[in-house]
Parts: sequence; structure tokens; C-alpha cells
Amino acid sequence: MDESAAGKAYSMEVEFERQVTGARAGATRFPRYDHAVRGIANYWYPVMKSRDLRERRPKALKLFGQPIMFFRENGTVYAIGDRCPHRGVPISLGRQEFCGTFSCRYHGWTFDLKTGALVAALTDGPDSAIVGKARVPTYPVAERAGIIWLFYGEGTPPPVETHIPPEMLAPDAVIEARITTRPGDWRYAAENGFDESHGKYLHRDSLMMFFSHPPGYVRTEIGPDDWNWITRKTTQAVPFAEYPALGSWPKRRFWKIARSIVRVSIALPGVLRVHYGSWIHFEWYLPTEDGHHRYVQFVVKHTSGIGALLFRLRYWLLLRWVFHVQFNDQDASMVELMQTPPEQLFGPDHSLIAWRALCEDALQET
Ligand code: FES
Ligand SMILES: [Fe+2]
Repeated sequence: MDESAAGKAYSMEVEFERQVTGARAGATRFPRYDHAVRGIANYWYPVMKSRDLRERRPKALKLFGQPIMFFRENGTVYAIGDRCPHRGVPISLGRQEFCGTFSCRYHGWTFDLKTGALVAALTDGPDSAIVGKARVPTYPVAERAGIIWLFYGEGTPPPVETHIPPEMLAPDAVIEARITTRPGDWRYAAENGFDESHGKYLHRDSLMMFFSHPPGYVRTEIGPDDWNWITRKTTQAVPFAEYPALGSWPKRRFWKIARSIVRVSIALPGVLRVHYGSWIHFEWYLPTEDGHHRYVQFVVKHTSGIGALLFRLRYWLLLRWVFHVQFNDQDASMVELMQTPPEQLFGPDHSLIAWRALCEDALQET
């Protein structure tokens, strides 16, 4: 990644001091980030599994505040604005009358899937005066790693691979996904992803960590890593601590034998990577409409043959339920309930500040 951007993002000790000590209480520290309700433009985002878009079966999604219809014809995926300019009906309720087009259900306005242009108004005859005077937006789409990716932004997009973590593009990447729409602002979700301390408290008694003993607290440094990531690197992990006049925490549990320290990274435009030893978790947060986001979760393992089969089995028999569902639903419940500002940050929140600063830098450049 751009070294200077990452450097700016994590070495803002002065701003960190100000935020954590509340010296700027009530002030907006990251104004562009605060206003980025619709997310960060000019990035490719994963939107659905390829197999979930069947041939000639339109699918409607709200993304970045915009209604979008996805359609597959002869294997090619198209994405167009899902609002008919005539009377505002969702185009995805319509049907296909001619190859390469899609017709609105209400009065038969017919749009070119590639360009979004109105090419016929079927209830006004072939010489309809409206033809050529209306269009719907179109969105660049691509398929990689069994996923449909959409470019949200202006102009010609970069190659889709630019914004896909290399681990997902490796030829031996075995990928499984869970994609849901959740309540909560996308920024709360991203901040929760990179949040340093909740893993040691909120998730302590999750099924995923039944046999694991997360440290009571850690100290971390945040810095640039491979690809576009900034990573929290643990410099000190304290398993138990004595709180004067209160006692020891966390409680000792004899069945918790495994140490649990994971490596967590985040990158623009809101993608998280968590290394769990032999496999990796990725998650994206796509704004849908205000106060909601599309939560895209992946597990990735590099293996093949019987190893691939065993990993898929492990996912569907175990990881999906204890991790993508139960563990990450604990996050979802917090993301839904969170309400800021105001907020009062503490030491471990340097993780949030690093992420916000990364976004602020990027938004300044656009
Ligand atoms: S609302 Fe779409 S054709 Fe009339
Ligand atoms: Fe979490």
C-alpha cells in the first residue's frame, strides 16, 4: 500500500492522545469519515456468491443507498439501477422479452443491460419518442473466486484483482462464504472488526473459544503489513491480571487450554483479515441503506483434493455455526446497539483511530 498513507494512519500519537483523553470532546476528528454514510467509493466490493445468481433470474439488492438489479444472461453478469425512470417501479420485478435487455413489469419500458439505455417502450410502439431519452445507471461487475464483485465509483475501474486480497486469488484457495444484511452502520461494523479489546470480553465465552483462553488484555502496535493492510501486532499478552480491591480477572477455567492470539488486519474500503493459523477469515461491510450494511464473511484455506473436501466439511459442520453464526452474531448484536457520538475512547481504541485515519486519508484524496 501507499506507505505514507499507512504511516499517517497509525502514527498519529498526538491525535490519539487527544481522542482518548477527550481533549476534543464534541469535536469531529474525522469529518470525511463521519460523513461517509454511503461508504468509500472507487473500490470493488464482493456482493454475492456466483452460484446465487442463476441464469435469467434477476436479483435485487440495495447497496450504497442505491437499488441495483443483478442479472445473468449466457453466463455474463450485468448490474443496472433497479428503479424504472418512468414511475419508479423496481425493474427487477419485470421480465426479459429480448436478449440483452430487460423490461419493466409496469408499462414495458425496455433497457439495454450493457448500457442502461431505454431501447424500447413496448406500450408506445416502435417509434416511441421516449426511446433514447431515458436510461438507468450501470455498474461494472466481475466474477472472481466464485464471487460477484461490483465496482462502486466513477470512471473506469482498475482490474478487479487490485482490490481482492491475494490469498483469495490463489489457485488453491478453498473459499466458503456467509452473506447477510444486518442492522447497524457499516462504520460501526468495520470498527468492531478491528476493535482491539472486545475479543477478550464479548467473545470470551463463545462456542468458538470454548477451549481457548484469550488473554485478559494485550498491548499492540499497529503498522503497515503486506498488501494494503494495517495490522495489529501483539507486543505483550497478559493472561491474568490483579485488579486492586477487586480481585483477579479473568477467572481460571480448567478446560480452557489453548492460547488464543490471532493476527488482525484491516484495509480500505472496509475489509478485515483475521489469521486463525491454518485458515483465514475475511469480512467486508457494504453500506446498504442508512443504518444497515451487507456483511460478507469468508473463510479461506489453501489446500486441494481431499484437504479441500475436509475443509468444506469442517466449515459446514462446525465453523459456519460456531464462528460465522454464533461468534459473529455476538458482534452483530453490539453493532446494532451501538450509538455514537458521543463516545469516550480508551487505550485499546487506538485500533479504531488507526482505521478512521486510514479512511480519512483516502477520502481526502478523492
Ligand atoms: S414504471 Fe416502468 S414502465 Fe412504467
Ligand atoms: Fe468480534
